[in-house]
Amino acid sequence: MKTMLNVALPKGRLGEKVYAMFEQAGFECPEIKDGGRKLIFENPEKKVRYFWVKPSDVSIYVERGAADIGVAGKDILLEYSPDVYELLDLGIGKCHMAVAAKNGFRDNPQKTLRVATKFSAIAADYYSKIGRDIDIIHLNGSIELAPILGLSDVIVDIVETGKTLKENNLSVIEKIVPISARLIANKASFKFKGKQIEKITEYLSKITK
Ligand code: PRP
Repeated sequence: MKTMLNVALPKGRLGEKVYAMFEQAGFECPEIKDGGRKLIFENPEKKVRYFWVKPSDVSIYVERGAADIGVAGKDILLEYSPDVYELLDLGIGKCHMAVAAKNGFRDNPQKTLRVATKFSAIAADYYSKIGRDIDIIHLNGSIELAPILGLSDVIVDIVETGKTLKENNLSVIEKIVPISARLIANKASFKFKGKQIEKITEYLSKITK
């Protein structure tokens, strides 16, 4: 008898798209669309249990086995390097990790560059590869404020439409890496629930965007 497959979905706009893909792949759980504050939903017939998790926490649930599989942004996977399998690029939630600064910004290579970001590891890795000395200022949101208020010279952040940058007179200096949503799996679950995970991966792979 198959056991339940626990799936961590990222709460929010991306999560709704992700659930729609799981539904299309044949793993529906209609109750999830009722709205409300409930966090766990299951369809015993399909042997699947979904739960809404803060997007940046999905990889923690999966790495520790509280979820067998989940969907996380490549940004989170690059930043935290969780010990999980990355199974599939779902082709949604597409954006870029980029360096941005005030319009007309010129870098002075003699000075340590002050970089504000939520993604300290990605920023440190990028600047060490190009051999640039930086001072990281770790923030938790509204990163765009930092260069405007003189807290930093540049930011390393996610750019999707570019609207936030534009409306704050900032522009992209350099694109670091493309980002999209990835299906990830717990390593032990991949062994013990391999059949179920492979099936879901295969069905999802047919409908990736
Ligand atoms: C992200 C990112 C940018 C914005 C980019 O913010 O940090 O602020 O989206 O999108 P755009 O290019 O389409 O304007 P998020 O909504 O995740 O909030 P936070 O970083 O401020 O927490």
